[in-house]
Amino acid sequence: MKATIAVLPGDGIGPEVVGKATELLSVIAEKHGHEFVFVEGLIGGIAIDETGDPLPAETVRICEEADAILLGAVGGPKWSDPTATVQPERGLLGLRQHFGLFANLRPVKTYPALVEHAPLRAELLQDVDILFVRELVSGIYFGERREQGDGDASFDTMSYSRGEVEQVANVAFRAAQGRRKKLCSVDKANVLASMRLWRRTVVEVHEEYDDVELEHLLVDAATMHLLTRPGSFDVIVAGNMFGDILSDEASVLAGSLGMLPSASLRADQFGLYEPVHGSAPDIAGQGTANPIGMFLSAAMLLRYSLQLEAEAAAIESAIDAVLADGLRTADIAGAGDNSVSTDEFAAAIISKL
Ligand code: IPM
Ligand code: MG
Repeated sequence: MKATIAVLPGDGIGPEVVGKATELLSVIAEKHGHEFVFVEGLIGGIAIDETGDPLPAETVRICEEADAILLGAVGGPKWSDPTATVQPERGLLGLRQHFGLFANLRPVKTYPALVEHAPLRAELLQDVDILFVRELVSGIYFGERREQGDGDASFDTMSYSRGEVEQVANVAFRAAQGRRKKLCSVDKANVLASMRLWRRTVVEVHEEYDDVELEHLLVDAATMHLLTRPGSFDVIVAGNMFGDILSDEASVLAGSLGMLPSASLRADQFGLYEPVHGSAPDIAGQGTANPIGMFLSAAMLLRYSLQLEAEAAAIESAIDAVLADGLRTADIAGAGDNSVSTDEFAAAIISKL
């Protein structure tokens, strides 16, 4: 097949891992007889530096003409002055909103090869395989906001409509049907009106999915249950901010934030694919970033936007094989263990294809 992929490296380690992902996808294309055309665009801090806008119109155009978007990361200390009028993150949020990418899928699983050095006891990490479905284009991220430059009050608003909750709940229930048929919905219905609407709506949508077992957790309790009984979860659905927080927490289960991929989809399967990790300014430019989160995101791109399941699975197996061989980047190596560079690690995965 022929496909055009918009490539947005962004900031920090973004370009380092995105460069490896396009290499990986080129090898997949060659081996499986596809043609992938990569078209690069600016986003985030680098786009602010070069154009004054974290999401230039040209980037939106490139994405509109593509079959899917592959993104590295945005942000960094250079642009994080709290008095700045424009943040790199606006570029990413703008893209999610422009394309209506309401369903953010973030799979988290434990790799047997990494359990030994995990911060949690090995027996807690048995059979961890969770799919987060985070609502991505509404909630407090996109509610009414007042930014008060020199005043003494600002506000953000968390709001959800029934339709917004319904569409993300449907994605989550359908995903659960294809997995272990359990859904946990996270909210704060004991305090927030928008979260009472969330819970009521999820209960209503559940009527169409009576083969799925539904559980509700308040977000504070969810943070604890995620670490005390991670193996009991199948699909977890949450609003924009709670999903953001819980998915970072859950990265501990996978061994490192560098391991987690994500897909942000709209109903027609067009999507944006990016690792869950950020621009990691502390290690940017050192060539030590873990490319796995990015590679697994590329695999999700093949699976969801291009329907290339075998090719996606080939990437996942190559990663499993390299981890089983004992190769590690610094973030997943045990104290005192050797680690390899992004280059070496990526090359090892690519050579397994
Ligand atoms: C994420 C990130 C973003 C978010 C930031 C960079 C805007 O933390 O994708 O999880 O908060 O959604
Ligand atoms: Mg986040």
